[in-house]
Amino acid sequence: MKTHHIQRWLAVGALAIALLPVGAHAGRQSINDGWRFQRGDSTAPGIEAGPQRAVTLPHDWAIEGPFLTSGPHGGMGRLTTWGPVWYRKDLAIPAGDKGQSIFIDIDGAMSHASVWLNDKLVGSWPYGYNSFRLDLTPYAKAGGANRLAIRLDNPPDSARWYPGAGLYRNVWLTVSNPVHVAHWGTVVRTPEVSREAAQVELAVTVDNDGSSAATAEITTRLYALDDDGKRTGDAVATLPTQRVTVAARSSATVNAAARVAQPRLWGPMPQQRPHRYLAVTTISRDGKTVDSDETPFGIRSLRFDAERGLFVNGEKIMINGVNNHHDLGALGAAFNVRAAERQLQILQTMGANAVRTSHNPPAPELLELTDRMGILVLDEVFDSWERKKTEQDFHQIFPEWHERDLRAMLRRDRNHPSVIIWSVGNEVGEQYAGDAGAALSAKLVEIAHREDPTRPVTNAMNYAKADMPMPATLDIIGLNYQGAGIRALPGQFPAFHQKFPDKMMVSTESASALSSRGEYQFPVPGVNSAAVRPGVGGDPQRQHVSAYELFAADFGSSADRSWAAQDQNPYVAGEFVWTGWDYLGEPTPYYGARSSYSGIIDLAGFPKDRYYLYQSRWRPDLPLAHLLPHWSWPERVGQVTPVHLFTSGDEAELFVNGKSQGRIKKAPYEYRLRWDYVVYEPGEISVVAYKDGKEWARSSVKTAQAAAVLQAGADRNVIAADGRDLSFISVRVTDAYGVTAPRADQRIRFTVEGPGELVATDNGDPTNMESFQSPERAAFNGLCLAIVRAKPGQSGSIVVRAMAEGLTPAIVTLQAK
Ligand code: GAL
Repeated sequence: MKTHHIQRWLAVGALAIALLPVGAHAGRQSINDGWRFQRGDSTAPGIEAGPQRAVTLPHDWAIEGPFLTSGPHGGMGRLTTWGPVWYRKDLAIPAGDKGQSIFIDIDGAMSHASVWLNDKLVGSWPYGYNSFRLDLTPYAKAGGANRLAIRLDNPPDSARWYPGAGLYRNVWLTVSNPVHVAHWGTVVRTPEVSREAAQVELAVTVDNDGSSAATAEITTRLYALDDDGKRTGDAVATLPTQRVTVAARSSATVNAAARVAQPRLWGPMPQQRPHRYLAVTTISRDGKTVDSDETPFGIRSLRFDAERGLFVNGEKIMINGVNNHHDLGALGAAFNVRAAERQLQILQTMGANAVRTSHNPPAPELLELTDRMGILVLDEVFDSWERKKTEQDFHQIFPEWHERDLRAMLRRDRNHPSVIIWSVGNEVGEQYAGDAGAALSAKLVEIAHREDPTRPVTNAMNYAKADMPMPATLDIIGLNYQGAGIRALPGQFPAFHQKFPDKMMVSTESASALSSRGEYQFPVPGVNSAAVRPGVGGDPQRQHVSAYELFAADFGSSADRSWAAQDQNPYVAGEFVWTGWDYLGEPTPYYGARSSYSGIIDLAGFPKDRYYLYQSRWRPDLPLAHLLPHWSWPERVGQVTPVHLFTSGDEAELFVNGKSQGRIKKAPYEYRLRWDYVVYEPGEISVVAYKDGKEWARSSVKTAQAAAVLQAGADRNVIAADGRDLSFISVRVTDAYGVTAPRADQRIRFTVEGPGELVATDNGDPTNMESFQSPERAAFNGLCLAIVRAKPGQSGSIVVRAMAEGLTPAIVTLQAK
C-alpha cells in the first residue's frame, strides 16, 4: 500500500512541488540515505563509541563476511549475523511539521529492533521479517535536529537459513495531518466479479491523533493502472463520499462501494493478464484535503476446488510454483527491487506462476512485483510457533508476539491481488502435539479469518496425517513432501483427499531435489529418484551433488517422482517446489558449504539442468530439447556416459557423432528421455525431439577445445542512475570457437570504469567462501557473474571488463541514465 500524505504539498503549491527532489517534501519520505552504522554494544543510544561508517539502506551488514570456514555454521550461511549493532541518523524535521503526526515506517529490521528518538525509547519490534510503524510524534522536535538511533540484536542460532542482518529493507518517515488514513487502514474487497461488472468495497479507517473531535469527509476514486503501474485516464468509479466524526485520539471506519463496469481482471501470467486498479482516497476537512492514500488493487475471483484445484476468474490454473527464501544471493538480504524482479523474471521464463514466501512475510515491494507481473503468492508468516526448531528462533517470543505479527502480515498484504492463500506456519512442531497443537492452529486460522475473510488459510505439514487433528483446522491442505517424498511412501494424497473431500490440496513443498550446476558424477544409477549418498549422486570430498537431477534430500524426491504423484492424483492443485532459487544457508547435504543445493536456479542466477526439466512441463508449448551432460570428458573416452533429455516433446532420437543411439518414447509418468548406455567419444551429441510423431525441437552439444575466450553479456545495458538499479553481467568461458568450456575455473577479475561500481560477484558454487564483494572470482563450471550499479545522479557510459590470465578479455558497456 502506498501512502502519500499530501498536506505539505498543498501548503507549498503546485509549482514548487515540481522542482523538489523526489520524496524530499512528500509526506512519506524514504530516509534510506546517510545512516551511520556501528557494530558492538553501547547501551545509551546517544553515545558514539567505536568505529562507524556511513551506509545507505537497505543494508545487510553481515553479507560482506568473512565466511566462517569452520564450525557448525552452514545452516545460517557461514556468515556472522548475530550481535548488537546500531544505526543512527540525524533527521532535520522542519518547523512546519509542528502539530503533524510523525511516524517511522520500517519495512523490515533484522532483528529485535528498538528505536530511539532524541534519546527516548520509542518502541521495539523483535520479528525481523515484519513491517511496523512507530509513532515519533511525542519525541520529535519540529524545527530542529533530531537524533534517530536503532539498535538491532540478532541472536545466534536464530534460524535454519541465512536471516540477513541490519536495516535490510526500506525505512520511511511519514508526516501527516493528525487526521489521516490509519496505518494499513484501507481495505479493498471485490466480493462480486464477472466480465460485465465488479463490486468494489472499501473500508477506510481514519485516525484522529488530535486532542479534539474532528469531522472529515472521505472520498475514494478508482482508476485503472497501466502495465507499469501508472494511473490512466479518468476515474472509472467514484465511491460515495462518507462523512464521519472521529473522537480525539481515536479511530473510525467508513465503508463505501461502487460498481466497475467491464472490469479488466487481474490474473496470473501467462494464462491471464495482471490488470490493476488504484483506489485514491482523500480525507478533507472544511473543503480542504488533509490526507490522501493510494491503494493499488486487483479485481479477480478465486475458487479453491477440492476436486479440480484452483480457479482464477473461472479458469482452472495449475499451481506451478516455487518456494523462495528472502535473500538475493550475493546481495544478501538487503532488499533490491531489480534483484527481486530478476529472480521472478527468470522463474516466469521457466514457466512458474506462483511463489511461496518461505517462511516469512516478504519485502512489501516483492508483492508489488508479483501484482504487476501476475504471479500468485502463498504468503507465509512463521517457521515455528511455541516449539523450537533452533535454540533462539521465533518460539522465544511466540507467546507475546504471534498475534501482532500475524495481524501485521495480514493487514499489510491483504490488498494484493497476487496473494491468494495465507499460511500460518511451516512444519511446526505442534504437528506432534495432538489436540493442543490443533487448538493453536485453529486460533491462528481464526485470526486470519477475522482479518481477511476472503482468503483461505493453510499450514504446511510434513508430518501430520489425515487422521490427526491439525489438518481439520485448515481451509487448504498444504503438504510438504507427503505426496511423493521418500519417507512419505506410500504417498499421502489419497488419504487426505478421502478424509477431506471438500478441501483443496496443494504441495506446499515438493521435490527438495539437489544439485550443483554443471557437476556430473558417474556412474549414474538407473533410478528416477534417490537420496544423495556418497557415490550415489554425492561427492562428500568436493561437496557437490550430481547435476543429473535424479537426487534429493532424504525426505524428498526428484522432480520426476513428484510429478508422477501429482499426475496420479489429479485433484492436487499443484506444487511449490523446494526451491526456485538457491539460497544462503541450509546447504543440505553438505553443511561445510555456505548455500543451498535445492535451487532450480543457482545462487548467481544461472539455470541448472533442472530448470529445463521444469520448463518442459510448465511450458508445454515451447519447443524445447535440453541435453545433459556436457560433452567434454577427455578422461571418459570409451566409458559409459549416460545422456538425458529434458523435452516438451514425447519422443526423441539421439546421435553421437551422427550415429543413432535409438529413438525412444516417454512412458506414462515418465518426464525425461534417457540413453543410459552411451559410450563417450569426443565430438558432438545431437537430438531430434518429436511431439505426436512430428518433429518438435533439436539441439546439440559439442566437445569444447581449450578455454580461450571470455564472453560477457548484461541482462540490461541501460540502467537508471539512481544508485539502486542493477545490471547483472554473465561471463562465460569458451574455447576459440565459442563452445562453452564446461569445467573452466579460471580466476576472473572485474573492473568498472565510468559512473558505476561493482556491487558483488558470484559463480553459483555453494562451496565458494570468497566474499561476495571480491572483484575477483573463479568461474564455476564455465560461468561467473558480476553485479554492477550506476552511481546515483551520474549518467554516462560504464565500461565493465572481465579478464583472466591466458584468455581474451570481455568488455560490456552500460549506459546509466
Ligand atoms: C523442509 C522445510 C524447508 C527446508 C526444506 C529442505 O522440511 O520446510 O524450510 O528446510 O525442508 O531442505
